[in-house]
This record gives sequence, C-alpha cells and structure tokens, in this order.
Amino acid sequence: MHRRVRGATPVAPDRPIGPTEPARRPAVNPSPVPAVFDTAGSPQWSALQQHFAEVEGLHLRELFAQDPDRGSELVVQAADLTVDYAKHRITRQTVSLLLDLAEAAGLRERIDAMFAGAHINVTEDRAVLHTALRLPRTAELTVDGQDVVAEVHEVLDRMGAFADAVRTGRWTGATGKRIRAVVNIGIGGSDLGPVMAHEALKQYAMRELECRFVSNIDPTDIFEKTRDLDPASTLFIVASKTFSTLETLTNARLARTWLTEGLRTGAGLDDPAAADAVAKHFVAVSTNADLVSEFGIDTDNMFGFWDWVGGRYSFDSAVGLSLMLAIGPDQYGEMLAGFRAMDEHFRTEPFAGNAPVLLGLLNVWYVDFFGAQSHAVLPYSQYLLRFPAYLQQLTMESNGKSVRLDGSPVQVPTGEVFWGEPGTNGQHAFYQLIHQGTRIIPADFIGFIEPNHELTDADAPGATTPVDVHDLFMSNYFAQSAALAFGKTADEIAAEGVAAAVVPHKVMPGNRPSTSMLAQRLTPSVLGQLVALYEHITFVQGVIWGINSFDQWGVELGKAMAKQLAPMLTGEESTSGQDSSTATLVSRYLQGRGR
Ligand code: F6P
Repeated sequence: MHRRVRGATPVAPDRPIGPTEPARRPAVNPSPVPAVFDTAGSPQWSALQQHFAEVEGLHLRELFAQDPDRGSELVVQAADLTVDYAKHRITRQTVSLLLDLAEAAGLRERIDAMFAGAHINVTEDRAVLHTALRLPRTAELTVDGQDVVAEVHEVLDRMGAFADAVRTGRWTGATGKRIRAVVNIGIGGSDLGPVMAHEALKQYAMRELECRFVSNIDPTDIFEKTRDLDPASTLFIVASKTFSTLETLTNARLARTWLTEGLRTGAGLDDPAAADAVAKHFVAVSTNADLVSEFGIDTDNMFGFWDWVGGRYSFDSAVGLSLMLAIGPDQYGEMLAGFRAMDEHFRTEPFAGNAPVLLGLLNVWYVDFFGAQSHAVLPYSQYLLRFPAYLQQLTMESNGKSVRLDGSPVQVPTGEVFWGEPGTNGQHAFYQLIHQGTRIIPADFIGFIEPNHELTDADAPGATTPVDVHDLFMSNYFAQSAALAFGKTADEIAAEGVAAAVVPHKVMPGNRPSTSMLAQRLTPSVLGQLVALYEHITFVQGVIWGINSFDQWGVELGKAMAKQLAPMLTGEESTSGQDSSTATLVSRYLQGRGR
C-alpha cells in the first residue's frame, strides 16, 4: 500500500552554505568523448617499459643516496595537504615519463571535459559533475540547459534550514518531542560517505544528537540501531539515489513500521495520527521524486540531487544531510570549501605539481609495471577509522573494470584492491606482511601535526616530563614509512649481536613504497580535501586505462539473481535450473529453517 502523508511546513533558509569565494569556472563546452587512448601501444608506454627495466632493481637506499634532495623536492602542496612522494620507487625521469603519458592520454582535456559537464559517463550518457556540488553560489555552470549552481544551492539552503530546525529543536517529532536521534538508511554511496565523515568529524558534531547508520539488509542492522531509541524523538533519513535499492527500501519499510507501532504503543497515538507522524519522522534524499512519494514521504521533505552525481561521488550532495545535522551547516560549508580547494588544485595546477595527477600516475606505475595488486591506506587518526572502507567503494567500484570506453578489453591490469586500518592498530595486525612479505603494497600514510585532543601521559616510565601522546603516536607515522623504505640489512642486524640463524628472519628488506600526507589538523575542510584528492586520483587512473570510472554494471547481476533466488528460500519455488552447488546450499538452508 502506498500512502501520501501530510508534509511538514518547509523551513526557510537563513544563511548561505558552502564556498563563498569568487568563481573561476572554465568555459562550458561539453566535448565528445575522445577516441580511446592506445595506452599499451603508445610510445610513452614503451618508454616507461624500457625505463622500468632500468630502475626496477634500484633500492630506495640508493635512490636517496644518488639524489639527496629528493626528500625536500619530491613534495607537493595541495591546498592544506603536504604530499611527500619521495619514498617511491622512482627517479625524476620516471616522473617525467609518467607525465608524458598523462599528456599523451589527453588527461588535460578529460579534466576540462569533466569540470565542464561533458557526458563523459558514456555508458549512461551522463555528465560527471560532483565537482559542481561544491561550487560557490556566485559560480556559473549551465549543463544540458540546467543552471547547476542554482539548483545545488537551492538544495543546500533547504538542507541548512532543515538542519538548523532540527538542531535547535524547532523541528519536533509528531508528539512535540525534540529529535534526539537521526538514523540514516542507505547503502553504498548513500551510506559510506556519511558514515566515514560522521566518524571523522565527531569532535565537531553536536553530541546530544545521536547519529546512526543502517545499511545492511541483515535484519540485525536495523534491530541493533533502533533497539534503544525512542520513536517519538527519532528522525529517519532514507537516502537512495534511485530510491529502488532493495536493502534501503526494505529497511525504510521496517523503520516505518517500527515508528508507527512505537508511537501507537509508546506514545498512545491513534491509528491515523501514528501513520501521519511519518511526515515528521521521515525525510528522503533522492533523485527520484516519484518513488519517494510512492513510499509515503512528502516530497516537501525530500532533498534532491541529480543523475550527474554518481552514488560513490555523492556524499557532499544531499546524501550528506545526516552529516550536516551532526556538524551544522557552517562546518558543512567549510567541508565543501575544502573539496573545492582540492578541485581547484586539480583543475589548475600544472601536472608536475598536481597531487592527484602525480599520485594517480604512481598508482598506475605500481599496478602495471610492478604488478601491485593492492594499495594500503593507513590514516594516523582514529577518527579516520572508516576512511579506507569509504575509499573501497570510491576506487574499486570506479576502476574495477575490464573493458575500455569503446567496449574493447583493457590492455593492462586495472583497479587495485584498496584496504587499510588506522595506525597504530594496523601495525599490530598486518604491517608484518607489508614489511617482510613477498608482495609490493604501496601505502598511503595520512597524518596530522596537531592532535584533536591534547593528552599527556604524566606517568610514562622513565619520563622526566609528561609525554605528549600525540608526539608518541606520530613518531610511529614517521617511523613506519622510513622503515618500509629503508629497512635494515643483514649486516646491521648481525652487528647487533643477533645469532646468525636468526639474522635472515630479522632482515627488513625495505624498498617498500609509500606516500606521506600531512595536514595541520583534521578539520571539516581537510576532510573535504582528502576526499576530493582520492576522487581525482581515481579519475586520473581511469583516464590512463581508458575506462569509464563512473558506471558500475558489475553489481547488477548479483542483485538480479538474489531477486530470482528469494522465492526459492521460502520454498515457494523449486531450485531446479540452478547450478548443483547453489541448489545443494539452498536445500541445506531450507532444511535448517525447517521448510
Ligand atoms: O550497488 C551499487 C550501487 O548502485 C552503488 O553504486 C550505489 O552507491 C548503491 O548501489 C546505492 O544506490 P542508491 O543510492 O540508488 O540506493
């Protein structure tokens, strides 16, 4: 049954959100997708292959000895991020050859095409304009007849007004109770960004407003996230670009039932009042107004975005509403300004000093020349706990592709596996393999000069003055990348008196590449810069590989098959026609469920 519920009065915006600096936009000139670059057949690729044969065997110890200035010179400043790429297995010639490749691949034109709103997502015939989500309101960008900037700011203003109303208690639940808990229901791009950013910016959040995230269709998720909440003071945000994702819609229905039943039994609302309460307790974030309305959420309470924002590039669209509720519109605006600062760096900085370009090319260098299969992301900030998980969707859904823009097979391996955990936890878990294993795993170290919390350990053994715990923490950040790069030789270990039989076990081979990123402090702006940095790195890799980083057809088959299998799990349909492995597993399941 589909219900349309009464809308709550929309709240008027009272101040602008987002970057306010004057606009500098490229001319809007949507360009057709160029012919696919012949990556592996290009002279630039051959030059890199030849060069690789020459440098492959060099150790970072030699590279630093031969080029003592590399530590101070292979560093770029990208907005507030200092990005050190000196500890990579490259010479200055490698950089120059990689930059030649980027030029030959038409990276400059592709960047301009993306920012201008050309339909570079060719398989869906869409513009790719997440960068427009952070344009200042003074900017001008009309794409496909749409005043993109005006639309973005209209939504931002409505989000800001709504967030203020909830945060100040002007927006209440159906019984007049203040909202104390916000539950975002979404999955993939409609979940991972807000989850990550909410964790990252916790110290900037209004702590009295509890924010939770339900994504999994495993009923455990919604059960655990709602079990101790009061329906009368809970607000649900149903976030789904398409508003047709099975997990999200199922969870949204469960939440609606939880709410209405809770209001009936807990707050004593009668039936129509409990049903009407949905308007005060549910808002939607989507591009699909029809389905939002069909679900029973008034479109007055819907915050829209557009098909030119890919799901995994959407967290700074209305998908970030839960984050805005947590940190407030002003700090959300600071985050958008951070995104924008990195966009401008990417768009305007010559390639030789352009962090996303350099780091994207280095990723290609490791994947395609060294055969690296994975890439570790190691934030030295507990607040960035969910950053690697967020990056997994961003990078792997974007670049996990086997065909190029024109449908032909890729010529070289693409799409490495991204993974990681915050330091120092990772040091006690998987760093062993990065240090002494047989695989090459380029790593990104992300650290901050200032702590978010100043704590000292006055009782540290042997210390004459209290130990600054952040210094202790960051000494690990500096030590790990140096240990990975330079290692420790058998001679050095033997000189310490280690028994000969144990020496080989203690040898640290070194020559393990890493990037070190350093910012003053983890702020909303710096978080925006980091996310935009990785968005653009991902784009650069996609351009070199000639793939479309903005579609995700590979996730569809599994979804369709799950739909087909569902009636077999209730016993309504037989498993005949299924492969013998799946049929056996399903029959074991049915047996276990007594069906
Ligand atoms: O499963 C893939 C996917 O389409 C992602 O790209 C997307 O972020 C996610 O599902 C959720 O989609 P939606 O926001 O439409 O619910």
